[in-house]
Amino acid sequence: MTEPQIIGISPSIEKIRHLIRRVADVNLTVLITGESGVGKELVARALHYYSSRRDKPFVKVNCAALPGELIESELFGYEKGAFTGADRRKPGKFEAAGEGTIFLDEIGEIPLPMQAKLLQVLQDQKFHRVGGNTEVATSARIIAATNRNLEAEIAVGHFREDLYFRINTISILVPPLRDRKEDLTPLIKYFLKTHQALHNNHPPVIPPSLFELFQAYHWPGNVRELENYLKRLAVLGDPSEIEKELRGLVASNAKPNSAPLSTLTRDIFQEIDLTSVVFDHRTKDFPSLREVREQAVLRVEKAIIEHVLEETRWNRREAARLLKISYRTLLYKLKEMNIRPDDS
Ligand SMILES: Nc1ncnc2c1ncn2[C@@H]1O[C@H](COP(=O)(O)OP(=O)(O)OP(=O)(O)O)[C@@H](O)[C@H]1O
Ligand SMILES: [Mg+2]
Repeated sequence: MTEPQIIGISPSIEKIRHLIRRVADVNLTVLITGESGVGKELVARALHYYSSRRDKPFVKVNCAALPGELIESELFGYEKGAFTGADRRKPGKFEAAGEGTIFLDEIGEIPLPMQAKLLQVLQDQKFHRVGGNTEVATSARIIAATNRNLEAEIAVGHFREDLYFRINTISILVPPLRDRKEDLTPLIKYFLKTHQALHNNHPPVIPPSLFELFQAYHWPGNVRELENYLKRLAVLGDPSEIEKELRGLVASNAKPNSAPLSTLTRDIFQEIDLTSVVFDHRTKDFPSLREVREQAVLRVEKAIIEHVLEETRWNRREAARLLKISYRTLLYKLKEMNIRPDDS
């Protein structure tokens, strides 16, 4: 494994680099959260690299890419005859990781029954292969990542709270690129250098007009999106096409209709009345912290969903995309929260 380079000069990236060094060798589970493309996997790799497990395997499992019923055999392997087609024993990812690191990417996508099994394994450090009776011990270090808000997922019953507490012993939040634009310059320099080296040509120049667009853009795809633009630039050499494209994106984003949620939510939040979360109780007792939290999360989620639906004129696919949840999850939430077109 080559040393992962976490580029950036923003205080948040400095802090993350520092935290990685401090917790790399601590045998606690780390949960890395952040939007798509912010560098969660890079952080996971760095944690492995700076640990004494460096020369052991780093095994990544993309939990979102696996259908629910396959996750178990993927993680824990199976014995010969466990199911049709299992003509020999196959070790799973935990066995492959050995004393190394297992990186559970998109952990928020694991179905609930599998979450229970995973929790058991994390607690006991033992598991069974599918269709097997022998216990297999594991000493792999576990790192998990998600771009979902697991606390909100817990509130609507999609994620187990006990598993959350178990994996969230150390949490690293990687902020979106739009909140640390001072990282643009060093990232651009870094990507141009690496990709130009790959293509063996002259380093492309970034005209000030393009750099201004980079500064103005809201980067929904974060560092990955930036890297892709620079890859294209390294190949094309000519920035005019990219400039045109970005200008369009920046302009459409500036329209009030599709302003990023981060700016719009400020107004919504002022309208959410959380006092009733505590005071609307039938009993005289003060509600438990858990009840307060669940109610508060629901109240906030509901307000945001209603707002986004209004903004998108009830285009639910577009709303789901903006909220970064699946279409199915949105439909489920609409039903659960009893949100209908006339309500909002
Ligand atoms: N700070 C950084 N310095 C250098 N490269 C970075 C940085 N952040 C991200 N990258 C690069 O950007 C790309 C996306 O990063 P990564 O795959 O780690 O993101 P992610 O958060 O796991 O995304 P997703 O949620 O979509 O899986 C990778 O090529 C990664 O190397
Ligand atoms: Mg990733």
